[in-house]
Amino acid sequence: MCGIMGYIGDSEPTKIILEGLAKHEYRGYDSAGIAVIKDGAIQEIRTTGRVCQLAEKVKETGFTGEFGIGHTRWATHGGVTENNAHPHISSDDKVVLVHNGIIENAREIRAELEAKGIKFHTETDTESAVQYLGYVYDGDPKGAIVKLTKRIRGAFALVIMFYDKNEEFWVVRKGSPLVVGHAGHEGFCASDPTALLEYTRDVWFMDDDEMAQITREGCKFFDFNGVEHEKKTMHLDWDSAMTSRGEYAHFMLKEIHEQPDVMTHTLLGRVANNEVDLSRELDWTPEQVKGWKKIHFVACGTSHYATMIAARIMETLGNFEIRTEVASEYRYMNIPIGPDTLAIFVSQSGETADTLHAARLAMSKGAKCLVITNVRGSTIHREVGDALVTPAGPEIGVAATKTFTAQITILTLLGLYMAKLRGELLPEPEKNLVGALMDIPAKLSRILDQEKVIEQIARNFADARGFFFIGRGLAYPPALEGALKLKEISYLHAEAYPAGEMKHGPIALLDKELPVVALVPKGFLWEKTISNIEESMARKSPIIAIATEGDEEIKHYSENVIYTPATEPELFPFIAVIPLQLFAYYVARQRGCDIDMPRNLAKSVTVE
Ligand code: F6R
Repeated sequence: MCGIMGYIGDSEPTKIILEGLAKHEYRGYDSAGIAVIKDGAIQEIRTTGRVCQLAEKVKETGFTGEFGIGHTRWATHGGVTENNAHPHISSDDKVVLVHNGIIENAREIRAELEAKGIKFHTETDTESAVQYLGYVYDGDPKGAIVKLTKRIRGAFALVIMFYDKNEEFWVVRKGSPLVVGHAGHEGFCASDPTALLEYTRDVWFMDDDEMAQITREGCKFFDFNGVEHEKKTMHLDWDSAMTSRGEYAHFMLKEIHEQPDVMTHTLLGRVANNEVDLSRELDWTPEQVKGWKKIHFVACGTSHYATMIAARIMETLGNFEIRTEVASEYRYMNIPIGPDTLAIFVSQSGETADTLHAARLAMSKGAKCLVITNVRGSTIHREVGDALVTPAGPEIGVAATKTFTAQITILTLLGLYMAKLRGELLPEPEKNLVGALMDIPAKLSRILDQEKVIEQIARNFADARGFFFIGRGLAYPPALEGALKLKEISYLHAEAYPAGEMKHGPIALLDKELPVVALVPKGFLWEKTISNIEESMARKSPIIAIATEGDEEIKHYSENVIYTPATEPELFPFIAVIPLQLFAYYVARQRGCDIDMPRNLAKSVTVE
């Protein structure tokens, strides 16, 4: 939520900052702004709307400076107005900053400073920080920031410039992501490492309670008491080409199409001769694995649905006792968590505040913790340590797609590996399932070949009032994911239910304007799901069926069939998700929605 960028060097700062902000836009896009130091004074330019609107304004006004900071906003405190847009400047014009996070005691600080006669100009929580800094600043940036960190509470990544410091800016982190880079005579900071890939791939991920001074010469790191320390860089294994949209109309479409490759890469090095081996990444012994009596999967949104799939697959592989919980709830549950618990946290971004806090709780209770993330070096990765990193590459579209496929791939491998270490999985079923997994990428490509069919069906239904998604067994979690994708990017109400649950209430909503997307793979639950389809048809709901190739009978129930290749029943979620992603994509496109940046959403949810 919110993207921030800072630059000092010999290039035009507004150009670098605007380009960096554009890469951060998925984190927030309701307003944007840049501040620079020019001729010993702070100057700024802000606008509501997108970074491209800010770029227009910069161009029209010829706004420029010596170095600067920028921000793209996802409003938390205060409406979407130019006045509330960052950067914010202290009333005495001495300090300017951008902020990602929430300052929890902002009201208290504001009251205190207003009582001292300082005038506030915005409705934001951020202004309390900049006014406080202005108030305590006496020419020593580090000293003022140390005081600030002791006064404010909450989550914050701040980038700060002082009017009389013409060769440096400062960054501060507690709870919100921030990464720093340096190359030649240029210093950078950003919320997201993808914004730095063009300049350097060796970066410093700021830790909590850490601040840094960035100059043309280099970066110095300090703790919140102002004591300097050494810090190691981390090498990023992404490159800047991965962040381009290529020939695709949207990042989401590009990322949907990348899934066969992403899945192949995820399997690479983790399977050989149809056997799973995760020993290079996890030094677990059979005794340890047997000692974890409880498995807790904790995640949010799409990542949570990935864990639901993993849990159901794992239950078919061994005698596991599994809970899957939404991270924002896990934290407040009164359930036993201890050394006999393996808690697995799944987060694409590795920055989701709810998941991070849940992980901290599990660690504090002595659980063994493991992270599945797509971002090496992300906060949750650094804090938990043990991790399986999905090699999906940067995901820019706000709606998660390829990282979901990577997550369910790696989670399935993890389930197989654990069942094997526990002695519950025999070689033959292992070989069968791994073999079937390795066949999936080719099947995903075959589904992508049907894009035109899916597009046409989506166009036919783009004016529907809403949608139900139904499925049974392993078809239910992908139904949840399909409904989430649709509501996120098309703004249509979409609800997923276990097919058998419809008759217990939701069926009351069905009529001819409410289509039902039925996930109905061939298998032992086919007939039961067909009964639920019949019940929906009796209420005049049009049916869109996701069915197995060769299933001719389904045509009696639906004129809108998307066929998927047959696979092992456990692996149906892999197959089901691409048609659902494409369906959501084309419904949203037909409705003229902003697919890569849906309203009210941000890709990385760093507030609780
Ligand atoms: C949906 C989506 C969100 C995320 C959720 C968790 O398309 O992207 O529901 O899945 O915010 O994000 P991560 O996985 O980064 O923790």
